[in-house]
Amino acid sequence: MNIYKAHIVFTPQPQRFEIIENGYVVVENGIVQGVYSTLPKELSGMPVVDFGDRLLIPAMNDMHVHAPQFRNQGIAMDLELLPWLNSYTFPEESRYSDTKYAERMYRRFVRELWRHGTMRSVCFATIHCESTRILMNLFKEAGMGAFVGKVDMNRNSPESLTETVADAIRDNECLIAEYNSPGSLVRPIITPRFIPSCTPEMLQALGELARRYQLPVQSHLSENCDEIAWVAELEPESRNYGDAYLRYGLFGQTPTIMAHCVWTAGEELELMKRHDVMVAHCPTSNLNLSSGMATIRTFLNEGVKVGLGSDISGGHDLSIFKMIVYAIQISKMQYCQDKSKPFLTLSEAFWIATKSAGQFFGKVGSFEEGYDFDALVIDDKELNHDNYSLPHRLERYIYLGDDRQIVHRFCKGKEITEPEV
Ligand code: GUN
Ligand code: FE
Repeated sequence: MNIYKAHIVFTPQPQRFEIIENGYVVVENGIVQGVYSTLPKELSGMPVVDFGDRLLIPAMNDMHVHAPQFRNQGIAMDLELLPWLNSYTFPEESRYSDTKYAERMYRRFVRELWRHGTMRSVCFATIHCESTRILMNLFKEAGMGAFVGKVDMNRNSPESLTETVADAIRDNECLIAEYNSPGSLVRPIITPRFIPSCTPEMLQALGELARRYQLPVQSHLSENCDEIAWVAELEPESRNYGDAYLRYGLFGQTPTIMAHCVWTAGEELELMKRHDVMVAHCPTSNLNLSSGMATIRTFLNEGVKVGLGSDISGGHDLSIFKMIVYAIQISKMQYCQDKSKPFLTLSEAFWIATKSAGQFFGKVGSFEEGYDFDALVIDDKELNHDNYSLPHRLERYIYLGDDRQIVHRFCKGKEITEPEV
């Protein structure tokens, strides 16, 4: 058993922060047993790890990130989605046929996630099986949680990123055999890149694979207007983009997360609700690729689950704390245009990043009893030179802080030290 003492801040509900000044969290086998303002009698006398005047908060979850786009982070944001993919993204991802290159870059990528306090992520790799294994092994070595998808593509892609359906299924099955163990922190996820990259045969085969092994699914949905028009041409029988996935068993038949959903409304929104499909909201990517502004308030009102994603390298920033800020700022611009849609509050956006996102991994993202102890210890003394209140300290950390203030990181109870590069 471990007992940690600090100023504990988390969001059991979106409406407000739960704050326990000088509180205790009791952890057993990686699972939170309880949080207390005074330690229960039967635990008094137990050793306590005292973090002093520091903040203890749930760790961050990145619900959509492309590990092999790491080298392109912060460059090449002068095009919209489809030409951006062809000009910058596909050439870079092609390099991951080289496992030496993949290992070098993936090591740096995992270290960067660690640096930013992201203990769980939902990742796209590339079509390459061996490189995907390298990424999964690096997460395992680090002790960080991840769903990692071998990406599947067999049309409208360069030859270097085109595979046959048979190869895709064989490679997925290899990864499933090796990594799909219950309780493992690093697990496979079925990953058709998006409808334009996959033929109906590929989509069908992937839907069957997801069902057979009861695996989650991730992809992209309604990100960009040209993309949506293209999908309508490619899938004339589908009522909307989401319906195209649904018809192949890739839209909520198993747990599903879709990135962007910028233009999702009407029937597609109904479909997301009905099939319990989660949104990975990627505000910086949607800004950089001029994709648009996803209506998170509407998703919340409708009861659609939402998490935040960095979407490197459409997004330029790997920090989920900064995604919280961008999500709030974008919601404020939307509020300017429609005052009936209140902007996101800080506690709502924090809840989205932690407890709401975390449900994709199980019981993750809160310090309620039974949750995995995924946590960050924040030493904000250099931001707290004027004795701010605890809520203001967290707000300042989210807006002004960075990795330099993260002094401890835990994933499922285990302290995670800096991964080697
Ligand atoms: N749609 C299909 N592939 C991608 C990608 O790599 N990034 C983004 N943002 N959207 C996509
Ligand atoms: Fe993406």
